[in-house]
Amino acid sequence: MGDATTTGRPDAAIAGTGRGKTDLERAGLRLAVDGAVATVTLNRPERRNAMTFDTWRGLAAIGRSLPADVRVVVLRGEGPCFSAGIDLGMFSGEGEGFADGSDAEATDRFIAELQEGYTWLRRPDIVTVAAVHGHAIGGGFQLALACDIRVAADDARFCMKEPALGLVPDLTGTKPLVEIVGIGRALELCLTARTVLADEAARLGLAEIVVPRDGLDGAVRELVASLLAVNPGAAVATKRLLWEAAENTLEQQCAAERREQIGRLREMFGR
Ligand code: ACO
Repeated sequence: MGDATTTGRPDAAIAGTGRGKTDLERAGLRLAVDGAVATVTLNRPERRNAMTFDTWRGLAAIGRSLPADVRVVVLRGEGPCFSAGIDLGMFSGEGEGFADGSDAEATDRFIAELQEGYTWLRRPDIVTVAAVHGHAIGGGFQLALACDIRVAADDARFCMKEPALGLVPDLTGTKPLVEIVGIGRALELCLTARTVLADEAARLGLAEIVVPRDGLDGAVRELVASLLAVNPGAAVATKRLLWEAAENTLEQQCAAERREQIGRLREMFGR
């Protein structure tokens, strides 16, 4: 798999900021694009892939500038774990300061910008896969929740730590968490900030696939190959359809199925 620097695409275009590779490096991210597959690696293993504001902005930039032929995006962590969540150094004044909430509108805009690092992972033109090993804490857990499919190693440990730190989870994680585990379990997990191990994660539906730690990369490769084997247009339309299902009434969803199928038939029969 080629690093973005070796695929002939300028780094600045990939990073989307015009300032080149150092932006992704500073964000603690690595991007490798190999044909239809992009792999985003959280790459601060010495800090257990703790995330800064630059990390979230870097993720958003990757989403904005993803090559059009990418169909699957894999998110993974370098080193002993997926991610230890927000970089706690930022609470003690290291790096860029927080918006402190005194200006509600400015803080709202500030958080919305960071959330963009996560929202693009739901786009229908790509399927996103989180490959989780070790800790996925706070913002790291929410990043996994933002993906369509989670493959977990048997050493995976999920924890929504924010309430224990006086915060709420605000990186788009509360909606998928409630949708996956239900309100009661979501409350229990968030308000105790307890850690969910891989076998429980599988039972709760937080991980679709659980494999031994040394089988994680292989399982992800297999999954990606299966995803790529499906007709691209059908994959996009089906993802759009499935994501709509929870919000729609049965009537609306039936109409959406008809609409998507008409599009598929037109494409298949060249109409
Ligand atoms: N922010 C900044 N640095 C971190 C973070 C973090 N979130 N997590 C780990 N590190 C650093 C440690 O300070 C340590 O640095 P050092 O080598 O300079 O001492 C290094 O990474 C290794 O960490 P260890 O604790 O030694 O690693 P270990 O594997 O034993 O434990 C664990 C990993 C469980 C993730 C632990 O580091 C931890 O609890 N981290 C804090 C998790 C946290 O509370 N995150 C915030 C969640 S809330 C949110 O994301 C909004």
